[in-house]
Amino acid sequence: MHKVLIVAASIALIPSFALAQPPAEKKPGIEIKDYPGNTPPTEKVAALSLKGNAKAGAADYKAYCETCHMPSGGGSPDGSIPQLAGQHSSVVIKQLADIRSGLRYNPTMYPFARKLPAIANVAAYIETLCIPLDSGKYQGPDAAKQIADGKLLYEKQCAQCHQPAGQGLKEMFYPVLAGQHYHYLLRQMTEIRDGKRIDVPPEMFKVITKYNDAQLLAVAAYQANLTTPRSMMMPHSSMCKTDSTKGGKTK
Ligand code: HEC
Ligand code: HEC
Repeated sequence: MHKVLIVAASIALIPSFALAQPPAEKKPGIEIKDYPGNTPPTEKVAALSLKGNAKAGAADYKAYCETCHMPSGGGSPDGSIPQLAGQHSSVVIKQLADIRSGLRYNPTMYPFARKLPAIANVAAYIETLCIPLDSGKYQGPDAAKQIADGKLLYEKQCAQCHQPAGQGLKEMFYPVLAGQHYHYLLRQMTEIRDGKRIDVPPEMFKVITKYNDAQLLAVAAYQANLTTPRSMMMPHSSMCKTDSTKGGKTK
């Protein structure tokens, strides 16, 4: 009885202009609830506990990923496809689990991610690839100023998690940002700020939600300009070919 009254009262409080709006556009079949192929919540946890076989992952990568993300892992400099090479395996596992479960909306990649037989192997493989140096940068005539402005923001509000050289932190699922394409970074941060990508920690959301478009541009320009020292990223990797023209060498 009480409940009914409360519901009725709260409906009465909704301003009439809100009711007049057409219902929010429905994304086709990728809502979190009842999403087809929703993976069990344990998938990420289970995959994280595995070592991951990079060799098996290389075959899976070829079969399911490289047409879009490229053999080098470098994606597209126009930012339509992110660069993956050298990304922490923990981050790749989390992203794949999020995409498979629909928590991260990615209709382009979803059918491929869904078919992937195991997520830990491909993540182990991606981590061994060299972070390219020829990623998409901010090209505006004011690049030097944007990068300088972005540096101030990044060092104050982002580096404690993503680290000063953009190398992230594997244990904390903080992604590598160095070597990522400018347009991809800008798109992700805009989607995060606007609540369209929700799989980020609240601490990051709190910071980025206050950024205006100019600040997002500057901080994206700075991140796209970061280069991660190879020694910090892949101290044990023998598969990282520094002379490769596909995967670039890192400093
Ligand atoms: C049909 C093209 C396509 C295929 C195939 C594909 N991806 Fe993607 N992937 C994308 C796009 C597009 C995005 C970025 C979506 C966005 O802008 O949010 C993405 C994003 C990602 C991300 C998130 C990157 C980040 O920095 O957060 C990861 C990880 C990833 N893909 C891994 C894979 C793996 C592993 C495979 C193979 C199993 C794969 N992708 C297959 C198109 C594809
Ligand atoms: C509390 C730690 C934290 C802080 C502070 C933080 N981030 Fe993040 N950030 C994360 C995590 C964790 C993710 C990955 C979220 C996920 O799993 O999808 C992320 C994701 C991102 C992504 C998307 C990367 C990708 O590959 O898709 C960008 C870009 C980014 N952060 C930039 C920033 C910037 C710029 C700031 C400062 C304004 C910032 N972050 C502050 C933890 C943080």
